[in-house]
Amino acid sequence: MNKQFAVAILGAGLGTRFKSKRAKLLHEAGGRKLIEHAVRTAAKLSASKIFAIVGYQADAIQKAITEADSKLAGGKVRFLLQDKPLGTGHALKCGQKELRAAAPLLLVYCGDTPLLRPETLRDFLSYHRRLKATATVMTAIMADPSGYGRMVRSADGQVDAIVEHKSASADILAIREINTGIYCFDTKELFSQLDRLKPDRLTGEYYLTDVISGLRQECKRVEGYPIADAGEVMGVNTRIELAQADALLRARKAREMMLHGVTIMQPESVRIDPDVEIGPDTILEPGVMLLGSTRVGSDCSIGAYSRITNSRIEDGVTILQCSVVADSIIKREASVGPFAHIRPGTEVGPQAKIGNFVEVKKSKIGRGTKAGHLTYLGDAIIGDNVNVGAGTITCNYDGEKKHTTIIESNAFIGSGTELVAPIRIGRNAYVGAGSTITKNVPADALAVARTHQVIKPEWVKQRKRKSKAKKKA
Ligand code: UD1
Ligand code: MG
Repeated sequence: MNKQFAVAILGAGLGTRFKSKRAKLLHEAGGRKLIEHAVRTAAKLSASKIFAIVGYQADAIQKAITEADSKLAGGKVRFLLQDKPLGTGHALKCGQKELRAAAPLLLVYCGDTPLLRPETLRDFLSYHRRLKATATVMTAIMADPSGYGRMVRSADGQVDAIVEHKSASADILAIREINTGIYCFDTKELFSQLDRLKPDRLTGEYYLTDVISGLRQECKRVEGYPIADAGEVMGVNTRIELAQADALLRARKAREMMLHGVTIMQPESVRIDPDVEIGPDTILEPGVMLLGSTRVGSDCSIGAYSRITNSRIEDGVTILQCSVVADSIIKREASVGPFAHIRPGTEVGPQAKIGNFVEVKKSKIGRGTKAGHLTYLGDAIIGDNVNVGAGTITCNYDGEKKHTTIIESNAFIGSGTELVAPIRIGRNAYVGAGSTITKNVPADALAVARTHQVIKPEWVKQRKRKSKAKKKA
């Protein structure tokens, strides 16, 4: 038996029910665009060819596919154009030249089914082959089947027809077995049916689902393949379904992480993007967001409602609640937060401590250095074991350019200091609290830059006497 098969992903529709300027398949669920999920699933099968049928906003969809594809299938996806969105049957017809020649077996699915797993498709393909069917439809029993095409089966269990929700009578609407939009076809038989397809009386669209009744009329074998987990094949047609698919995909990723040894408190509240990696014995508190290419080591603790994007968090790091970290590296056993903001290009050294209401941008913080409270460090290079007092500000911007602040190891910056960059504070140096430092401070020196304190004894009493005298006059 020729085992070759090709995949065709339907992605040319308008997505009218989404009510969006953007094509439906460009919206995200579980941290990826819908179309990207579809392509990634195809890339994990051993298909000889993968086709994506595009039409509406074809350029943007093609771009999204090419981006995903270059990471996975290595440029395997070919594009076929459906010039007008005249239905799912019309979509395949538009690509008939290439699809007919692609392989004897064609696996077709809709681009709006983001939870679909490659394992499920593999089982589906073997089922189709084992039964030697002309077509097999993947089906599911839905608690609420509204919107889906309904499976009409004959007494022997074969599929007689798929009736779309819009055209269904009350009897048919009561059927809870639905068409998932995932099919396996004998390529030749499929196209001979597509040639004869008539537009739907209600919508004028050419329905792929009508191929099924056509095949049955010719006594071809059409099987239904029910899948147990209806959630996996849900179609995303509205923003409500987008939110449901997102929640299911997030739950899937959270489960995977928990099985890998990560403790997640209230897993339904966290958002972990698909490419994120987390080491064992790390604890995530509720509401944590780990996004993009973030990698978190083992034995870390990530505080409630913190958001970490495209960052590397090494082993044993503590991030306290409501902290934001982006495009940065937090080294071993460092502590960040609560309410800290670590902006792109930052490296927080091992065992360093960045405390509450501290903002750090494009800076390198040395080992064991502490900036505990209410501080801004931007474009700074700070050595090891430096103490940065509360309310310190690196004045890095002169209105035109950004300048660097260098603080060498073991320096002590008193509270309320302004360091006007470019500036260098030498090793072991001290800066007195409340200073505005505009000149470099040599190593081992003390710099104090504030006006001298004036004391006026008995000033308050004198003031009161003066004001009484004024009132009398
Ligand atoms: C379709 C099925 C329905 C099934 C459901 C499963 C048809 C007629 N109906 O309905 O039986 O229960 O999927 O989720 O097939 N598309 C094109 N070109 C078009 C129209 C659509 O490429 O002209 C693409 C869309 O981009 C989408 C997919 O086909 O990825 C399905 O289209 P959609 O409008 O979502 O069909 P449903 O109404 O969900
Ligand atoms: Mg759909």
